[in-house]
Amino acid sequence: MNDNDTPLIGEIAEEAVEETSEQTETPKKHKGFSSKLGFVLAAAGSAVGLGNLWKFPYLAAQYGGGIFLLCYIALAVTIGFVLLTLEIAIGRKTGKSVIGAFTALNRKFRWFGFVCLVVPIIIVPYYNVIGGWVVRYMFAFISGAGELIGETATAATSDAFFNAFISNPWQPILFFLIFAAATVAVVVTGVQKGIERISKILMPLLALIAVFLMIYVMCQPGAMEGVKVFLVPDFSKFSFSTLLAALGQLFYSMSLAMCIMITYGSYMKKNTSITKSARQISICDTAFAIVAALIIIPSLFAFTPDAQSAMEKGPPLMFIQLPLVFNKLPGGRAIGAIFFLLVFFAALTSSISLVEAIVSVLRETLGMRRWTACALILGFIVAVGSIASLGFGPLSVINIAGKTILDMFDYFANNLLMPVVAIITCVIAGYFSDSDSLMDEINLKKGGVYRKYFLAMVRYVAPLCMLAILISGIFMEF
Ligand code: TRP
Repeated sequence: MNDNDTPLIGEIAEEAVEETSEQTETPKKHKGFSSKLGFVLAAAGSAVGLGNLWKFPYLAAQYGGGIFLLCYIALAVTIGFVLLTLEIAIGRKTGKSVIGAFTALNRKFRWFGFVCLVVPIIIVPYYNVIGGWVVRYMFAFISGAGELIGETATAATSDAFFNAFISNPWQPILFFLIFAAATVAVVVTGVQKGIERISKILMPLLALIAVFLMIYVMCQPGAMEGVKVFLVPDFSKFSFSTLLAALGQLFYSMSLAMCIMITYGSYMKKNTSITKSARQISICDTAFAIVAALIIIPSLFAFTPDAQSAMEKGPPLMFIQLPLVFNKLPGGRAIGAIFFLLVFFAALTSSISLVEAIVSVLRETLGMRRWTACALILGFIVAVGSIASLGFGPLSVINIAGKTILDMFDYFANNLLMPVVAIITCVIAGYFSDSDSLMDEINLKKGGVYRKYFLAMVRYVAPLCMLAILISGIFMEF
């Protein structure tokens, strides 16, 4: 265990090109990624996680399929892309992570760095709860749990298995603790580097299996109905809650609006194109989400008696549908075990970067030791995560407008806090800092159309659209 400045992204220690000598109490200028691909892979590895595989499919199903996809893509190519580029540019220009970066942009905005940090703090506990569900399913497929796989398994038994698991008071907590312990153990020992190296091999494998499953499901009788529901927008289902949900999901999935991409940007070399990397990261992330949805939504129509009502399932959707797919597949149990193992790694790498972000700020600003910070966060994850987990069992009486405790955390972080953080980020970058030199950092030609478009997006279009979506979305919801 080392208590010196272990970098946020494991890769860097290895690929560092130069040592910096600035050893003051202010965060050091970060070292760089040696390869252009290294940056994209590390950022994409953190972005691809439960957001793509677990969350996107059930949100798309809940919010009417095609219309959700359309809103998501429209927001991704406009606001998402601009915000991702902006965050990376802020990071690379200042060379610092969240708090240091905002202090460098404008001394008056140091506090905002701390506000950004509230988002991962809210997300981490329930992210680990879902991580625990993944661990449960991984073990179930390895040990061949009869209700999930085999002759007698049906949509009803899959449902029953999940509900029995989730309403049990201690089982979900046990698996949640395993996942949380794995996350924190990696952060405390500083072996992210190794995990990331493994995940560089595992992520393409996950993509491969996912594409295979997608093709398999789409070839099943009845599945095309689901493909249509997901791809063809039904405009009568449009509402501002759909837009707000799509916006929140966009931030969540691309790891935006909590200023973590700033940290990634701080490790990026000067000769790498920010816009090109941002494009690659967003395409990769969105493709993953779409493939996941094209497995799960068509499977509803092929394998579930009442597809329409199953669309409303929410968070459990992936866990109930995937076993049905594996059950039909020859060798499904083995493929299912491998698949959940890969999902576990995808979730773990994301969870690690979330925790690492909080740890590094605790260390930089409060001078905490690595293990003290980790112990503190673990305690917090266990306390809050347990409550979220029990929200499906003994605490299920606590719910607002049909939202479980976990849904409430999720709604608060994604649909309320993240849009606010994103708006303020745009305002600070557009009005209260040297936005001209930020545009230079992105390498946009002076006087060019692209630069004008970008500035207009950051200053007016993005913040105003997000504000409008936020306010009308809240009104529609309540
Ligand atoms: N994007 C991740 C996912 O899709 C979750 C996430 C949100 C995240 N913000 C993050 C991961 C910040 C790492 C860092 O699952």
